[in-house]
Amino acid sequence: MPLHKKARPQATRTPRERVRVLITGARIQKRIQALAREIRKDFPGEPLHLISVLKGGVFFLTDLARSIPGEVSFDFIAVSSYGQKTHSSGQVRLTRDLDSSIEGKTVIVVEDILDTGMTLQYLLRLFQQRKPKHLRVAVLLDKPERRIAAVRADYVGFSIPNEFVVGYGLDYAERYRNLPYVGILLLGPGLKKKPAED
Ligand code: IMP
Ligand code: MG
Repeated sequence: MPLHKKARPQATRTPRERVRVLITGARIQKRIQALAREIRKDFPGEPLHLISVLKGGVFFLTDLARSIPGEVSFDFIAVSSYGQKTHSSGQVRLTRDLDSSIEGKTVIVVEDILDTGMTLQYLLRLFQQRKPKHLRVAVLLDKPERRIAAVRADYVGFSIPNEFVVGYGLDYAERYRNLPYVGILLLGPGLKKKPAED
């Protein structure tokens, strides 16, 4: 390159991305209030132990926990299944166990999304062996079309179509978790929807 010519800035290698709002923050908050009332109605006067699956379920847990009246405690567990990609490897591995025993407790597993069901199937089997008094599942989002494992949630925020979504805890390669809403991820120069199963 001739010395007098300025080098052009390198074209960015990051693919173009956009997020199209699917469920607004206000709708999420309203729905969580209703779920919290429903949960408390099902277990009146009982201490509830919420278990969130890191990291996606954290915002749902903190909002839900603050909306349930009465005694509530919580704990965290972490599993890995998706890695950096948008597809499930189908393998679930425990990467962080709970701090305390759940024996005799009324446990509500709080997950961001129920997709293939592999993660929850694994967790429910694990928790059942530890003899809780009750074991229930609350998910903010449910993608029923994608189910492989026979798992159902007792409390569902929103049933959504088969799209790859981000926000309110859900990530794409660890990004977008902090969005206060849930949106569909659009990728590439044509900003196409990211297929959920690719
Ligand atoms: P499952 O084991 O296939 O049910 O997947 C559950 C986990 O996959 C969730 O906790 C998410 O971390 C991740 N996941 C599934 N669908 C999506 C999505 O649309 N966006 C982001 N993460 C997702
Ligand atoms: Mg994830």
